[in-house]
Amino acid sequence: MKRFDISVVGELNADLILYGLPATLEPEREHLAEDLAITLGSSSAIFAHNISLLGSRVGFTSCIGGDPLGKFCVDRLQESGVDVSGVKVLAAKTTGLTVILPLAAQRKILTYLGTTLDLQFAHLDLNYLGSASHFHLSSFFLLRGLRPRIPELFSKMKQSGLTTSLDTNDDPEDLWVEDVKSVLKSVDIFLPNEREACKLAGASDVQNALDSLSRLVPIVVIKCGPKGVLAKRGKNQFHAPSVSVQPVDTVGAGDSFNAGFLHKFILRCNLEECLEYGNAVAALSTTRAGGTEALRERNHRESFLQTSVSPRKGGIS
Ligand SMILES: Nc1ncnc2c1ncn2[C@@H]1O[C@H](COP(=O)(O)OP(=O)(O)O)[C@@H](O)[C@H]1O
Ligand SMILES: [Mg+2]
Repeated sequence: MKRFDISVVGELNADLILYGLPATLEPEREHLAEDLAITLGSSSAIFAHNISLLGSRVGFTSCIGGDPLGKFCVDRLQESGVDVSGVKVLAAKTTGLTVILPLAAQRKILTYLGTTLDLQFAHLDLNYLGSASHFHLSSFFLLRGLRPRIPELFSKMKQSGLTTSLDTNDDPEDLWVEDVKSVLKSVDIFLPNEREACKLAGASDVQNALDSLSRLVPIVVIKCGPKGVLAKRGKNQFHAPSVSVQPVDTVGAGDSFNAGFLHKFILRCNLEECLEYGNAVAALSTTRAGGTEALRERNHRESFLQTSVSPRKGGIS
């Protein structure tokens, strides 16, 4: 038996979220927030944390600076059961931070990437990464130090017999350069959101994006916010509606979807079940601040998932 169910490579930083802000922020004024959450941030870390709490055995590889926020992030991952022996501490560097300002109409998101930029191929232990049945990487465009060798990394994971998944997340430069397509050759499951799928495929609507991407990847799942998800495996298309909730915020909803979906995929459940569970875990994540707090509350997590997932007999697709 492999040591882990899943190896995760990506960024690791905290989120600082200010709630109860005025509708607009005026220059030079001191505005007061009504509430503050300091919580685990970053797509890869939220994903790793949440899939671990769902019951997968997770090995996480990243790097942090030698500062208290870096330690806070590693502690949070460890509390969720993630193995953090692959997290390198770069003592002279500063861990990244995302500041999220949920205003009335839209969120403002500011990120200092910090050590996210410093993760290099040389930091990776390929034997450690290979001791899992599945490999996942998030935030392709933020991992600038690793990016040139991400295609090689995926190809090595496939050669070692792992199944693979990728969530690029957004490209802050909005360039969507072709190199990401060379990674897709070694990806089994691609998990973009609607905007990212259209940008990458150069498509004007989600159906065209799905059709085009599914010619490159065996399973494509496009996350469409409150509309749920669209997916395609070969010629078969699926739609799974979201679970109705009153969100506190949707930070990390996409990462939590990935956690639910891949937890079931690793258990070899059929695709419909993976999609439904992904939507349920994503909806759960929106019921508390940030991307991980709702899952950290064990009773809330278990009762929410029990009531929002239909009972099944199980089965292999
Ligand atoms: N308002 C909402 N109500 C219920 N579920 C939601 C809501 N917003 C997002 N979700 C769930 O989170 C998933 C991912 O959200 P989405 O915003 O599409 O991705 P990302 O966070 O990557 O941008 C959706 O597919 C859906 O399951
Ligand atoms: Mg996302």
